[in-house]
Amino acid sequence: MKIAIDGPAGAGKSTVAQRVAKRLGMLYVDTGAMYRAATLTALTRGCSIEDEQCLRDLLDTIDLTLEIHDGMQRVYVDGEDVTEAIRSLEVTRRVSTVAAHPLVREKLVDMQRRIASRKNVVMDGRDIGTSVLPDAELKVFLTASIEERARRRLQELEQKGVKAEYGELLRDIEERDRKDSEREIAPLKQAKDAVLVDTTGCSIDEVVDRIVCLHREKIGERT
Ligand code: CDP
Ligand code: CDP
Repeated sequence: MKIAIDGPAGAGKSTVAQRVAKRLGMLYVDTGAMYRAATLTALTRGCSIEDEQCLRDLLDTIDLTLEIHDGMQRVYVDGEDVTEAIRSLEVTRRVSTVAAHPLVREKLVDMQRRIASRKNVVMDGRDIGTSVLPDAELKVFLTASIEERARRRLQELEQKGVKAEYGELLRDIEERDRKDSEREIAPLKQAKDAVLVDTTGCSIDEVVDRIVCLHREKIGERT
């Protein structure tokens, strides 16, 4: 069984996908974290994505692993835990440009498909239903109004004690969504057979219940 959850930034994909995976006893895979880890590594190694040789070397040598600890995904690069570091503002601002590069997508999509071939997965990202796992049994396109998504991000940062400005967060989200939707390879787009779930005004539990319900319906259809 494979569940694909795609959608724009701040729609609640990671939060919801993680809980759905726990409820259904499946493996959760946050593909955005993989693009973020590649972006962080390019920054720390001083590798520009315009330098194709440098990028190829990086992708050939990067040791990227995902592990689950206490139900939460942690990300390691070359043995170092980068789970928090990949959420920095610098990485967030650059990730869409790095993720649009064909070499980066080729490498990470291959890793994602290999993981999904071994386990039942709930995978979240931008192109899971349209490109990575086109045969997923359940596809969900999660969204919410841009204002609500910016508010959620602001609240999340405030809870971590990080100062942020609502207008700036809204512009950053808009810009990232635009880049992700307009790129040539596997842009952010709702798959034809995905169920649209608008989470504006919905609690996390409500959204999780809805997806678990959709999953149950799919299982019913198959038996
Ligand atoms: O959680 P948040 O919405 O901030 O983003 P993310 O899921 O961590 O993804 C970060 C970035 O990685 C996205 O803005 C995309 O540029 C890229 N990404 C992608 O291209 N394809 C995916 N399947 C997942 C993420
Ligand atoms: O992965 P994505 O960027 O789509 O979103 P996320 O990181 O899972 O969620 C962004 C923030 O919105 C988190 O702080 C969630 O707790 C919150 N959230 C919410 O308030 N209500 C929902 N229905 C879903 C998420």
